[in-house]
Amino acid sequence: MAKARAQFVCQNCGTVHSRWAGKCDGCGEWNTIIEDDPTGGIGGGPGKVPKKGRAVALTALSGEIEEAPRIQTGISELDRVTGGGFVRGSAVLVGGDPGIGKSTVLMQAAAALSRKGQKVIYVSGEEAVAQIRLRAQRLGAETTDVLLAAETNVEDILATLADSGKRPDLAIIDSIQTLWSDTADSAPGTVTQVRVGAQAMIRFAKQTGAAVVLVGHVTKDGQIAGPRVVEHMVDAVLYFEGDRGHDYRILRTVKNRFGPTDEIGVFEMSDKGLREVSNPSALFLSERNSKSPGAAVFAGMEGTRPVLVEIQALVAPTSLGTARRAVVGWDSARLSMILAVLEAHCGVRLGQHDVYLNVAGGYRISEPAADLAVASALVSSLAGIALPPDCVYFGEVSLSGAVRPVAQAAQRLKEAEKLGFTKAVLPVSGDALKGAGGQWTEIESLPDLVARIAGS
Ligand code: TYD
Ligand code: MG
Repeated sequence: MAKARAQFVCQNCGTVHSRWAGKCDGCGEWNTIIEDDPTGGIGGGPGKVPKKGRAVALTALSGEIEEAPRIQTGISELDRVTGGGFVRGSAVLVGGDPGIGKSTVLMQAAAALSRKGQKVIYVSGEEAVAQIRLRAQRLGAETTDVLLAAETNVEDILATLADSGKRPDLAIIDSIQTLWSDTADSAPGTVTQVRVGAQAMIRFAKQTGAAVVLVGHVTKDGQIAGPRVVEHMVDAVLYFEGDRGHDYRILRTVKNRFGPTDEIGVFEMSDKGLREVSNPSALFLSERNSKSPGAAVFAGMEGTRPVLVEIQALVAPTSLGTARRAVVGWDSARLSMILAVLEAHCGVRLGQHDVYLNVAGGYRISEPAADLAVASALVSSLAGIALPPDCVYFGEVSLSGAVRPVAQAAQRLKEAEKLGFTKAVLPVSGDALKGAGGQWTEIESLPDLVARIAGS
């Protein structure tokens, strides 16, 4: 057999190169390419005899369709993001910055399931069994039957899982970056090792019907360190987000083969672990100072759930040659677009002004529906006029200055009413909202909005 040639793999995106280079062509990162095991650690070996499989007609399966069997943890914020509980025989990746609370929430889930009589095994490559026990004690979980193991070798883990008596319902592997296998030559933490480890765990899930949760650390620029490849291999990917200055944490679904992908679960970190937050809007609005100019409440949606957040803007004459723009919690390109539309269509001159935009509480918004709330906050700050404290804003702004309708307007308004907001400024929505309770103002274009704020 010909000797396999060396290959060079980017540890960030997994692109394979034939020779070493300082910069990866795939993702543009520097210093991420290292020499790696050319077989990728997955070699059948020369002696492998091919085995004939069986193809089944789709129609022949019609009688066998059923709901994916799920394991509900009873932690409703967690069950919400997984789409109703972990699916048996599937693998989920839980990503997030170190220290954000991944191990904490998974230990809580393990304890909750164990109390319901499910068999759970928690394999940690990061902490010793005594340390995991200490954490469990803090979470009030030390009396549950969760099995603990401190292992990093893939073959050892599989042997441990097989040896732990009855097969587990849920296996938690914390974390994939610590896994290493005898079959791959490269160092632990490299793409090859992570891929081999993840593959072995996914195979374990499919073969035994256990749900497997893989924990993955994220680099500071927001990517799961190295193994983005794992995202493609697993059935669902959840990300833990949060801000060090705040106690709340958001678990976000970014991929889910068995459920919705735009759900969030909101938690608050306490000294006894993560607590569920069933009304996130109240939390995000709790520090609000409604009397100052430059603040607008945005009625947003996260999946099926409405979330109200405050958007704060500060527009001030610049003291430097070029005006500054700084954004936290929103897309800066989108802010530039709103500023351009305000200049071009509303006669609002901002070239000589610094503009700062902040989404309160360290929350992050990705919806274009926030355009109208952002524009309102900007105009309010520039004019020095506070917006009505009991009013919410939502609507998408197009380059022509038109305000476009957004999805789920009725649900946004319902949430606003629930929290005591009686007014709303929104796009023209036809008959859908007629008869609804509050004082809704439908506007067609951004100049309408500017005129309303300036005239108030
Ligand atoms: P952890 O779950 O270890 O993070 P990860 O696994 O994502 O790296 O969370 C650790 C942080 O959470 C740490 O800063 C301490 C804090 N914490 C609490 O505030 N309360 C608790 O009950 C626990 C267990 C941790
Ligand atoms: Mg951890």
